[in-house]
Amino acid sequence: MALRPFLGDHLSQTGKAADELRDVILCIAQAGIQIQAALRKTDTGLSGTQNQFGEEQVKLDIVSDDIIQKHLKESGLVASFISEEQKDVIELSSTAPYSVVYDPLDGSSLVDVNFAVGSIFGIYRGAELIGKKPKQQVAALYVLYGPRTLLVYCTGNGVHEFILNDTGEFILLRKFLKVSDTAKNFAPGNLSSIMDDKPYHDVFHAWLKDKMTLRYSGCMVADIHHILSKGQGVFTYPAGSKYPDGKLRLVFECGPFAYLMEHAGGAASDGTGDIMDKKITDIDQRTPIIIGSKKEVERVCDLLS
Ligand code: F6P
Ligand code: MG
Repeated sequence: MALRPFLGDHLSQTGKAADELRDVILCIAQAGIQIQAALRKTDTGLSGTQNQFGEEQVKLDIVSDDIIQKHLKESGLVASFISEEQKDVIELSSTAPYSVVYDPLDGSSLVDVNFAVGSIFGIYRGAELIGKKPKQQVAALYVLYGPRTLLVYCTGNGVHEFILNDTGEFILLRKFLKVSDTAKNFAPGNLSSIMDDKPYHDVFHAWLKDKMTLRYSGCMVADIHHILSKGQGVFTYPAGSKYPDGKLRLVFECGPFAYLMEHAGGAASDGTGDIMDKKITDIDQRTPIIIGSKKEVERVCDLLS
């Protein structure tokens, strides 16, 4: 049997990543390995602090953020970064080639119940992030910490899935993941808003009428990975009375996932336009999101409009 490629070799050969981009992604992968170790041994409780959005932080949010920051700084290749757990853009070196946006531990309110959680990353060229659009990312990736630790990346040439092996290396599991145009699974975020949002109520009933299967964990990384892994599905987190602009963040969550989903043949919309074309005006920018199989995304957007 042919040996499965390691992440570094795959990034150069199939990912066609420039050496420096490959090295940034390999640094992030090392951070992911340390986070999965931290998840096994760190107390799952609250830290007693809040993030920039006023949300309670668990200790693991802070531990994960520290691990990622340390790796980004040490790489020497990162001009600036923004973390969902930090208030400001952190500038490191104006001459370094890339900027990184990340959510260090998405779904962290689920760590105490031992559900899957993940880290999300988007990479842009240059130091400036405000004014850019997610389609200008040069790479996006996530690490999913479930029963197994997986890393999924795209550098513009397909979406590829890696697994952390016993010797602490990411090896290729599946290459060129594809998402079909139609969906059988649905993952409805903000579902309670169907009580006062008739269009979303109609979407939900369309899914039930079509006998689609519910798959929702409450961790965006796991729920989007479900779609990329099964090759079909739709995830929604529309705006509603509780979250007038949506809950999920354009910079750290929706932007990287839109990039990955579109490169796998799927779509990502805010209900009216492509997430990839949404200009970043603010670090704390939220957006509604409908993401997954193309035709299902179109149908949901039509019903919501
Ligand atoms: O980062 C926010 C997040 O935890 C996502 O991972 C997830 O999709 C969403 O919030 C879940 O929101 P809710 O608790 O409203 O279902
Ligand atoms: Mg998150």
